[in-house]
Amino acid sequence: MTPDLLDEGAQRLERSKAALAARNGHTESGGRSAGFSRLVTSPEVDVTHGRILYLEDVSVSFDGFKAINKLSLDIAPGELRCIIGPNGAGKTTMMDIITGKTRPDEGSVFFGSTIDLLRYRESDIAQLGIGRKFQKPTVFEQLTVFENLELALKTNKGVKASMFFRLDSAQSDRLAELLHTIHLAEQVNRLAGNLSHGQKQWLEIGMLLMQDPKLLLLDEPVAGMTDEETARTAELFLTLKGKHSLMVVEHDMSFIRTISEIVTVLCDGSVLAQGTLDQVQADERVIEVYLGR
Ligand SMILES: Nc1ncnc2c1ncn2[C@@H]1O[C@H](COP(=O)(O)OP(=O)(O)OP(=O)(O)O)[C@@H](O)[C@H]1O
Ligand SMILES: [Mg+2]
Repeated sequence: MTPDLLDEGAQRLERSKAALAARNGHTESGGRSAGFSRLVTSPEVDVTHGRILYLEDVSVSFDGFKAINKLSLDIAPGELRCIIGPNGAGKTTMMDIITGKTRPDEGSVFFGSTIDLLRYRESDIAQLGIGRKFQKPTVFEQLTVFENLELALKTNKGVKASMFFRLDSAQSDRLAELLHTIHLAEQVNRLAGNLSHGQKQWLEIGMLLMQDPKLLLLDEPVAGMTDEETARTAELFLTLKGKHSLMVVEHDMSFIRTISEIVTVLCDGSVLAQGTLDQVQADERVIEVYLGR
């Protein structure tokens, strides 16, 4: 090995070490790090009843204000469900409840027909196969695209074990395929910090996908993206549909039009309307509270 290569290897090790230390220091802190934890045991999600996610009569109040109010909603396996609704409707709070970040005051939340999500902690829920993407990209800027994706697999390992972690050939193949799916094959050796906002979002989605989640929750994924990035993200979600179940919260109606099948409109913490985008856009109540006249 040349001194240059040795030097590069040492630098990469240091960067990876720093990123892992940062991540491991926050393992109990909530959604972001929880999203990078890995399935240790993989209990089967029972979808024989045709539902991967099931919320019934869920309510939560913050200081007497009902942010979620008797919310009932379910999602089929492989479905790409779009959620729209005015600011403060409870969309993000609903994701907080599904991922264990917020505990509801009442109601039930099931993953498949047997896994009662209210019995699990946030980090456990990530391990059950529910990945969550927050609005702001949370990639490791000082690592390359490749290193970020590799890191997504080095989970539940200590810093030392992670340092000696090597991808097996199936994982390498998956990583290579994923790079194409997320449109970053040509950026593989670039530092994540040098990517555009849209590319960082795709990288973070890629990091979630490395863990092969059954359900992906995406909160305003195209906010701040260029039109071209938005179009490519729509393409990406359409390729993920079927292999994963997706719940996508967005305000961008042309994006929703490109990807949507069933659209659920949330308002005041419960479902106001549901149907195709054309159906909900024609609904007087939806026009009144959200879309405007
Ligand atoms: N932890 C909290 N403490 C107090 N109030 C909260 C908390 N989380 C959410 N809320 C309130 O609950 C309501 C629903 O908020 P939420 O963020 O879920 O809305 P949203 O539909 O995601 O809106 P937006 O489209 O603006 O993102 C808001 O009135 C918000 O202020
Ligand atoms: Mg929100």
